[in-house]
Amino acid sequence: MRVLSGTKPTGDSLHLGNYFGALRQFVDLQEEHDEPLYFIADYHSMTTVRDGDLRRRYTMNVALDYLAAGLDPERAVLFRQSDIPEVCELTWLLTSVTPMGMLERAHAYKAAMDRGDTVDHGLFTYPVLMAADILLYHADLVPVGQDQKQHIEMTRDMAQRFNHAYGCEALVMPEPYILEDSAVVPGTDGQKMSKSYDNTIRMFAPKKEVKKSVMGIVTDSSPVEEPKDPGAPVFQIWNLFADADERASMSEKARAGGLGYGDIKKDILERVLDHFSEMRTRREHFESRPDEVEAILQRGAEKARAIAAPVLDRCRAAAGLGA
Ligand code: ADP
Ligand code: TRP
Repeated sequence: MRVLSGTKPTGDSLHLGNYFGALRQFVDLQEEHDEPLYFIADYHSMTTVRDGDLRRRYTMNVALDYLAAGLDPERAVLFRQSDIPEVCELTWLLTSVTPMGMLERAHAYKAAMDRGDTVDHGLFTYPVLMAADILLYHADLVPVGQDQKQHIEMTRDMAQRFNHAYGCEALVMPEPYILEDSAVVPGTDGQKMSKSYDNTIRMFAPKKEVKKSVMGIVTDSSPVEEPKDPGAPVFQIWNLFADADERASMSEKARAGGLGYGDIKKDILERVLDHFSEMRTRREHFESRPDEVEAILQRGAEKARAIAAPVLDRCRAAAGLGA
């Protein structure tokens, strides 16, 4: 059973949505499975980031977040997507079995069109590159947030079409692995937490920024004594740091009234800082040793290439490419 996932380097450091929706599962899965592959999807970031220096910085940030969160280079294969450019070749092989209609139904593309954005071919083809990421390494299980589920379904479709077109079994069918419990972490404004909405709580940001974000979580203006909706964003965020018993009793307290939002926010802040304190120290450790981080990524790339090369060879052979 091979586990694989990737993170796009598009910002300064990850937020609670990325952590609870994706990264935490990466770490759990490293305990349960042999050598999962986790990469930094720098090619994917090209649809939005148009500055090379920034991309390098963001890429390093994801590497640091991976290591900080507890991904262990001795147990997991950590690498940079663009260190294995073979993925671009597999992308091309897949594009020729991918119907336009499938890509036109992709959520990210549709959303961009609905917003009236100018859409380039990279964004349109994004799901094919993502399929290539997964299929190149014969991944069986892909831990991702709910919003990525459609991409995995498309990946399965492309694998099937390729195998069928060339009468081979060169590609294997992956399954998504989604943690339903915290599938969508709300942002400080109540929408889905996302760096695109500027509503994030970045767990490794300077403490002052974390405080500002937490204090900015939206709440209604009901007075302290009134009952509160235990489903409100502030409680959903608090729940991330609480066990089942704590959640149940908080829910009761909310319904009973007498609970001030300010106190809950203070508690969230404490819990966030406490929960991530060890990881923060680890991040600082690697941040001051960029050569060590680069060496980890290079070792990861070697291992990743050893898995990818025979898969791509089989695809090329099946498709009649090369001698
Ligand atoms: P963003 O929306 O901030 O740009 P990304 O799209 O880069 O985040 O997501 C990286 C990973 O984190 C994906 O697997 C995604 O599903 C997960 N993720 C992002 N935001 C959330 C959220 N609010 N709740 C749950 N998972 C999330
Ligand atoms: N598209 C994913 C995201 O936006 C990142 C990603 C790229 C990915 N390639 C992948 C995730 C392969 C899992 C597997 O979050």
